[in-house]
Amino acid sequence: MQEMAIRAQGLTKCFADFVAVNDISFEIPRGTCFGFLGPNGAGKTSTMRMIGCVSPLSKGTLEVFSESTAQKNMRSIKQRLGVVPQEDYLDHHITCYENLELYGRYFGLKPVDIRLEIKRLLDFVHLEAKTHTQVRFLSGGMKRRLLIARALINNPEMILLDEPTTGLDPQARHLIWDKMRELKDKDHTLILTTHYMEEAEQLCDMLAFMDDGNIIAMGRPKDLIREHLETNAIEIFIESSQRPKLLETFNTSTQFHADLGQRLIIYTRDSGTMLTQLHHDYSGIEIRSRLTNLEDVFLKLTGHQLRENA
Ligand SMILES: Nc1ncnc2c1ncn2[C@@H]1O[C@H](COP(=O)(O)OP(=O)(O)OP(=O)(O)O)[C@@H](O)[C@H]1O
Ligand SMILES: [Mg+2]
Repeated sequence: MQEMAIRAQGLTKCFADFVAVNDISFEIPRGTCFGFLGPNGAGKTSTMRMIGCVSPLSKGTLEVFSESTAQKNMRSIKQRLGVVPQEDYLDHHITCYENLELYGRYFGLKPVDIRLEIKRLLDFVHLEAKTHTQVRFLSGGMKRRLLIARALINNPEMILLDEPTTGLDPQARHLIWDKMRELKDKDHTLILTTHYMEEAEQLCDMLAFMDDGNIIAMGRPKDLIREHLETNAIEIFIESSQRPKLLETFNTSTQFHADLGQRLIIYTRDSGTMLTQLHHDYSGIEIRSRLTNLEDVFLKLTGHQLRENA
């Protein structure tokens, strides 16, 4: 049987009488990458903070490496975790080296080991040239990479990454994806939150869509798409007055469509036939054809786009 890194049952987080995480259950096998997706305020960070043993559960049970996150186990669990928080929490007035050194000491590493680890980790995230630069002089992408290095100082079995690539340019994002793949190949368990569908599709073995504190769908990225929608999405930029006739033509009562203001999206298995007919009946309007993706699934399940509130 596959060993579980996380077992959560009825996990709930309340802030006074507001329920931020509402009775969610999930399991994460060791050595896999699990992603939480959802709009702002869905409860992703609140869930991550409970896993990271920095926020107590309001209800439910949570096991990390088969140990409950009760007070008495927190220290031993934290020793096995690396955390890349959503906010940077770096000390901006000391150098990259000193930031990592402080963290290494916190985990009780020997000075000689800390020195070697810092060199290895700054190489790993391509920041060796900034070793003795104060953090306030780093770019946003460099700070995210330093946070990843910091999260790895105790050689953790599991790494929690809360929006590790938000705000990064594509090159920096791809570098972080490569590093995450390397970590997964070395059997680390990764738990990730992200607003980027491509990131989730590329890295995650399993995903949970969250909305209003609930898990509204969970599964492998490809399975989620297949289970919920047809394979092709046709985006049609058409005025609303023309939409009822078009929807009737394509018998959209049997296939899902989404009305997104300027755009109408129809999901279909047979895009060829539909495109031919569209170009014939509605020549001159903008039409785009693409494969259905996770964002479409989220749209179907919640009625709004992932970044709508972002
Ligand atoms: N310390 C707190 N006190 C009160 N409410 C909180 C606290 N932390 C989070 N919340 C509320 O809980 C809900 C979930 O917040 P959370 O940070 O988990 O969302 P998220 O899914 O991570 O969103 P984002 O994508 O914006 O990071 C929000 O409505 C938020 O305002
Ligand atoms: Mg968050």
